This record gives sequence, structure tokens and C-alpha cells, in this order.
Amino acid sequence: MSSSSASSVAAKAVSTSGQYNSRYISKKMSSSPMMMEASAEEESHFALILGKPGGGKGTISGKILKDFPQFHHVSSGDLLRNHVRKETTLGIKAAQYMKEGKLVPDDLMVGLVMDESTQYLEKGESLLLDGFPRTVVQAKALSDSVHIDMVVNLDIPNETIVERLTDRWIHEPSGRIYSYAYKPPKVEGLDDETGEPLVQRHDDKPETVRARLEQYDESTSPLVQYYENNGVLKSFHGTQSDVIYPKVKSWLEKCFDHHQ
Ligand code: AP5
Ligand code: MG
Repeated sequence: MSSSSASSVAAKAVSTSGQYNSRYISKKMSSSPMMMEASAEEESHFALILGKPGGGKGTISGKILKDFPQFHHVSSGDLLRNHVRKETTLGIKAAQYMKEGKLVPDDLMVGLVMDESTQYLEKGESLLLDGFPRTVVQAKALSDSVHIDMVVNLDIPNETIVERLTDRWIHEPSGRIYSYAYKPPKVEGLDDETGEPLVQRHDDKPETVRARLEQYDESTSPLVQYYENNGVLKSFHGTQSDVIYPKVKSWLEKCFDHHQ
């Protein structure tokens, strides 16, 4: 699905008053084939990766995709940054929130992520969502359309996060993540695959990181309990992705065995 079509759907989800237009969203979702495909296609799995900003969601997602290539990765932050870069209507609106470390409104996010995900879900393919849902409203909207099988919750201390984010560099078009301390690029300042320049994220300034952490505590942390209550969440504690990841991998393998 093209970004412009995602943008138009997300734009349609905003009412003229700027209020959450649940009627449009639920109509769109109930008319989507996702629910049907999810139950008809036994091989497909829906996984989420939850965690604080800078907690390693993108890094761990990359490792999951190598070991479980059946997943398609949809990162809400990468989708937004592509809209911001292309200066779409949605991108211009979202940038205001992102640069202050605030959450982009639920109606825009639900339209954007569900629209991007449809292309995979229509084919009954498996999906790993990173950064979405981020509020209980988003989680409920998602549950109207798909059944979530597995939720990986990364529980990383705040001190580690602030340190890491000052050293993060990304290849913006692909979302590939580097850090000079942890995962340096082969050539300084350049993406390993395309040779294009790496950039730092505007929201990685210390004051914005603090705002993002507060937003996490306020709006996103309740999702841990929400998915725990649904019996699909597993938390992984620690500071090192290389130590955490083998545990994530073995838990996912067990989930796959259980679902077969
Ligand atoms: P988003 O892009 O999703 O950002 P985030 O959740 O704040 O998380 P990050 O991408 O910053 O961190 P990450 O957990 O992926 O960590 P990473 O692997 O990069 O969202 C950005 C903004 O978009 C939000 O603030 C909001 O405004 C908006 N938004 C997005 N989704 C939304 C939604 N659903 N609703 C509303 N608004 C939404 O790792 C971090 C660094 O650590 C990297 O440099 C990495 O190399 C390094 N690292 C990783 N592991 C290790 C290790 N073991 N040792 C050392 N360094 C490590
Ligand atoms: Mg990320």
C-alpha cells in the first residue's frame, strides 16, 4: 500500500472537528478482510513488541525477522518518519507531536497502521507490529480486527535508554538502526546496505527523550496489564539486547509450537 493512500485513509479518519471518528474507523475495520483471514489462515501469527522509547524494540525486531522470516515488520515510528520526510498532510500534522515527544492522535495512528498492515493480512501473512498500539484506544481498535497471539514486552531501565539514544543513528528510508557503541556501521556515517548517509532523530534530544518516557508511563504502560490480562504477554528484563534476545527467541519458538 502506498504512503499516499495510507495518508488519505488516515486523513479521512479525522472528523472536521478533529475529534476521534470511531464510526469511520470501525466501519473501515469491519469491512476489511483481516478478521476473516486471521481465522481462515491458521499459519498466520500476529505479534507485538512493546517497550519504552529506546528500549530496543527496533533492534530486537530486526533479530526476530532474521530468525522468523515469516513476519513482516510494521513500525509505526518508521511509517511516521517516512510521512514526515515526504511532507505528506499526515506527516506535517504528526511532526508537531513527534518533535515534542508526544503521541500522535489515535485516529491518525489507527488509520495509518491498519492501512499499512492490510496488504499483509489480506494474504494471511504474519505480522510483527512495533510501536503500535501505544494506547488502550489503539489496542481496542486493533483487537476489533485481529487476534494478537504474542506480545513481547521489553522492560529496560531509564538510565540505559537516555545513554543509548544520544548514540543512535538511523538510515531513515529503511529504519535501519546503528549505534557507535553497540552496532557501528561498516563505514562511518553511512548505511551498510545503500551507502546513504545516516541521520540522528530529531526526537532523540535529552529533553524530548524525557517527554517520551513520561508519555510512555502515562499512556502506554497500561498496555502491559491489558495484554497480561489477555494471557499473551511475556516481559523480558535487562539492559542488553544480546542477552535478552535468546530468551525472546525461545519464548517465540514455544508459542509457535503451541499454535501448531
Ligand atoms: P518510535 O519510532 O516508535 O519511537 P519509540 O517508541 O520512542 O522507540 P524508539 O524507536 O526510539 O526505540 P526502540 O525501542 O525501537 O529502540 P532501538 O532498537 O532503536 O516513535 C517515535 C514517535 O512517533 C513517538 O514519540 C510518537 O510521537 C510517534 N508514534 C509512534 N507510534 C505511535 C503510536 N502508536 N501512537 C501515537 N504516536 C506514535 O534502540 C535504541 C538504541 O539503542 C539504538 O541506537 C540501538 O542501536 C541501541 N541498542 C539497542 N540494543 C542495545 C544494546 N544491547 N546495547 C547497546 N545499545 C543498544
Ligand atoms: Mg524503534
